[in-house]
Amino acid sequence: MRSVSAFFAWGALVAALPLAGASAQSARTTADGVFTEAQVKAGETAYQSHCAGCHGLDLKKTDAEAPDLTEGPFRFGWQGKTVGERFDKIRTTMPKQPLPRLEDQMYVDIIAYILSFNGVVAGNETMSPNAAKLEAITIDLPAAKSGGGRRR
Ligand code: HEC
Repeated sequence: MRSVSAFFAWGALVAALPLAGASAQSARTTADGVFTEAQVKAGETAYQSHCAGCHGLDLKKTDAEAPDLTEGPFRFGWQGKTVGERFDKIRTTMPKQPLPRLEDQMYVDIIAYILSFNGVVAGNETMSPNAAKLEAITIDLPAAKSGGGRRR
């Protein structure tokens, strides 16, 4: 019987290894409560002063060239990407003008607000502007909740 239990112990160890590696790196998504409600509030304030002029108070664009930050193409652009990727893009390109850039933490808060607006639920963890950590969070937007719950 000794060899059988050794077999199982070894099997369990081998099975657990890749899982441990995965959860440290990429298993997290925005569904895991990766930002706080306070960040969403701060992000909303920052969004209204720095982004709403073009992207709209309800995240539907007011500027002809600016994209909506909710539904449609937004969902394709964000779904399945990492927060880090979006953070990089926004931080280096937005607000379109005028520069200067905002504080990194403010960009992260704004992203929390945009995600929350799109149905992602806040949690207990504060999202910080740490590139590696943000890269490890995959964006997982819940199904659009407009109208009667069905997509148009
Ligand atoms: C002066 C108008 C203007 C302001 C202010 C502005 N944007 Fe934009 N934004 C644009 C335009 C135009 C585009 C599309 C062209 C481009 O990407 O350069 C865009 C594109 C984007 C995109 C790309 C779409 C995507 O799905 O990735 C995001 C995200 C974004 N803006 C977020 C922001 C955030 C966050 C702020 C505030 C910090 C902001 N924008 C402020 C005009 C603006």
